[in-house]
Amino acid sequence: MANNRENWGSKLGVILAVAGSAVGLGNFLRFPVQAATNGGGAFIIPYLIAFVFLGIPLAWIEWTLGRYAGYHNYGTSPSTYHVIFQKKKKWAKYLGSLGLLPPIFIIFYYGFIQSWILAFAFYSATGTLMDVVAQGPEKMTEFFGNYIMLKTCVGGIPVAIIFFLITFIANMIVLSFGVRKGIERANKICMPILLILGLVLVVRVLTLPGIGKGLAFMWNPDFSQLTSPKVWMAAAGQVFFTMSLGMAIIFCYASYLKPKEDLVLSSLTASATNGFAEVIIGGTVVIPMAVLIAGANIEECAKLGTFGLGFQTMPYVFGTLPFGGVLQTVWFTMLFFAGITSAISIIQPLISFCEDDLKFTRKKSVTTVSTITFIGSLAAGTVDELDFWGGTYLIVFVGMIQAVLFSLVLGRRNAKKAQENGDLPAEVVVEPGENEAFATMNDGSLLKLPRFLRPIILYVCPIYLIV
Ligand code: PFF
Repeated sequence: MANNRENWGSKLGVILAVAGSAVGLGNFLRFPVQAATNGGGAFIIPYLIAFVFLGIPLAWIEWTLGRYAGYHNYGTSPSTYHVIFQKKKKWAKYLGSLGLLPPIFIIFYYGFIQSWILAFAFYSATGTLMDVVAQGPEKMTEFFGNYIMLKTCVGGIPVAIIFFLITFIANMIVLSFGVRKGIERANKICMPILLILGLVLVVRVLTLPGIGKGLAFMWNPDFSQLTSPKVWMAAAGQVFFTMSLGMAIIFCYASYLKPKEDLVLSSLTASATNGFAEVIIGGTVVIPMAVLIAGANIEECAKLGTFGLGFQTMPYVFGTLPFGGVLQTVWFTMLFFAGITSAISIIQPLISFCEDDLKFTRKKSVTTVSTITFIGSLAAGTVDELDFWGGTYLIVFVGMIQAVLFSLVLGRRNAKKAQENGDLPAEVVVEPGENEAFATMNDGSLLKLPRFLRPIILYVCPIYLIV
């Protein structure tokens, strides 16, 4: 079981990479709408419960299964499931193949959104958006509509296509450098800048006169909503999406951990970073500003949705403030960094599949995945449909399979026997009577998982998911 795959260069590197994947549009645009429309401040209660009983345990499970994959020189689920069933069950590979579907569905539309952000960062920095804002909010809506409907052209070519090509090539260049020199380095650059830009916006928003009214709108708790199952589902869905669970991402990233590298604490740190970006930055900027400056109410915010708020309302409200162009640029640059670190994370599992399962070289893998995603993106063209299936249902289904496998298969096998069998590397320290699941999870972790948390991981989390 010689491990000849690439590894992360540092602990900080893998934490930032997982946090980079998690911090995305979900934090800054999806979360505020979900919170504001599902009980305001009261939403935090089901959100925290889902975070503790679903998000954190499932993240640990994915990190653990990912490292298990890494022991066997794989980074995606088809071959890993095959190995988990000790190569005895033919169907395991097919079941594992389901894990590859969410990244395929999501990347077909995500590249476009990422390219819209880059274009709007460019329009902000060059003053174009300020000119549009000066003509009123309707013009802003028209401008965005024309852009995404490919009606804005230079020399007969839609600008949206040009920006799509730029972001597509940028993603692939980062990925062609591999895990350490590409993904890790990109996250080490983008993540600190993203967090600083986010905090700049938070400070600007909090120093606006009258912002208390906007914050109250967003955060006023409506406890009566907590009796509605819809609110609890929304909170669980948000936790799932924002932590990048069920998307094959953490699984893949964790496969590049070395045995004897921390997993329990690293996972918690990445989750906490994501939670901070979500509640503090996402919870402060968008809705309070839309309410205060654009005079929107919650229903309107919900109707505008993620894209309306991000690409029309936000540039408009920033544009009405002093140094509006700078604020717009900060907003879109922050979103772009959030976008690129998420996009590369969803493409890497597909590259890993080509490299590890199909035994392609990195160059051939990047070329193959580029070709497929390029054609797929242009052919798909519909964000809503793909998001609905890939970003909502499939991820929960995949997450459920992982939790059940962890609990029912690895959680019941004796680690010592697994080691003798070659399923666990010889260097993993196995305590007497330990099972394979927790021997893998605790392997090299600075923080050994406290025993009282085991039932949550083994039972509460899978049952929560099935429900
Ligand atoms: N956790 C990400 C977010 O909150 O935006 C979800 C995500 C979406 C990750 C798309 C990766 C991706 F390509």
